[in-house]
Amino acid sequence: MVQGVRATDRRMLAGLGRRGQPALTGLYSLSKHCWAAIRSTELGLRVINIIALLLAVAWLARSPDWEPAITALGLLGTLIFQEARAATGAKGKSPFDHVYSTNKARDFYNAVAKSYDARNSTFLLHTHREVIRRIKEYVKDRDGWHVLDLGGGTGQLIASHFYDNQRGEWTSVDSSPNMVAQFQHNMQGVKLTTGVVLRDIFEFLADVRHPKKYDVVLIVLVLSSLPHDADWAKVAKLVKPGGALIVADIEPSYTAIHPHFTVLVEGRSHALRMRPTHLSELIPMITQSGLTQAGTQSVKQEQTNYSFVSVFNKPSSQH
Ligand SMILES: C[S@@+](CC[C@H](N)C(=O)[O-])C[C@H]1O[C@@H](n2cnc3c(N)ncnc32)[C@H](O)[C@@H]1O
Repeated sequence: MVQGVRATDRRMLAGLGRRGQPALTGLYSLSKHCWAAIRSTELGLRVINIIALLLAVAWLARSPDWEPAITALGLLGTLIFQEARAATGAKGKSPFDHVYSTNKARDFYNAVAKSYDARNSTFLLHTHREVIRRIKEYVKDRDGWHVLDLGGGTGQLIASHFYDNQRGEWTSVDSSPNMVAQFQHNMQGVKLTTGVVLRDIFEFLADVRHPKKYDVVLIVLVLSSLPHDADWAKVAKLVKPGGALIVADIEPSYTAIHPHFTVLVEGRSHALRMRPTHLSELIPMITQSGLTQAGTQSVKQEQTNYSFVSVFNKPSSQH
């Protein structure tokens, strides 16, 4: 990196007139920075090589001899090597060992299930804390309550916070057998009554014979793993009158910068390419299903909005 103007350069600049000196110094320094940037990139090296090759060809054309011929051939060989390297580098550019689309979310969660709980960041923790606080608000005055956790995962981050509650029941629906196994492992011996359904959310929601309604329905950090949106009318039907739906997910402004949810498993990185989840689009769909918005909390990571936790109520009069 070029930092400032060196002594030899200063001596050269000293020869210039005083009035134009600040502008010239700036220009000179800028050109040196540009030059350093060009030199430091592979693209810069390729450009330099092409120019050198053209000069060698011109030299060969003017004075055909062994020397310009060997120089031109050497530069041509280097150029071919550089182009081949750039092409293979571009193909294998992904920084991850395994990349999954939301259509393969089940494979992704199966692969990362055992490492999922350990991977949690501070901001995920804040998101989960806000969800837990909201659930507690709803269940604290109820004698018996039932939470339906759509895409409940390992249960460690939300359900386990209610482990000693004997008045409550918790049902998790999840499509990943390994996440479900972790849930069962994490919930061993707790006082909370737990149940788990190994099923795809869309299939679960499509099952119109649901006789049961729940005090709280959760869909936390799941929408961004789904290939398309949930059927909110069906989700709303699962909420008891006077109950709540809690929706939380990563902000799209964050997924725009970090599009992958990554988990390291035995030294190999697994990355799920997330679907951006826009709360502004969810609100009208959810409220049209008969729920009212009761508030949204943002979790921030420095200046960027990281996630949202939004609560929707079902009026007591509505069935
Ligand atoms: C990021 S985890 C969140 C888990 C939990 N809600 C939490 O906040 O810790 C997403 C969960 O959704 C589940 N999931 C993803 N797509 C699903 C689908 N189509 N049907 C059911 N579960 C799904 C995954 O298996 C995973 O356990």
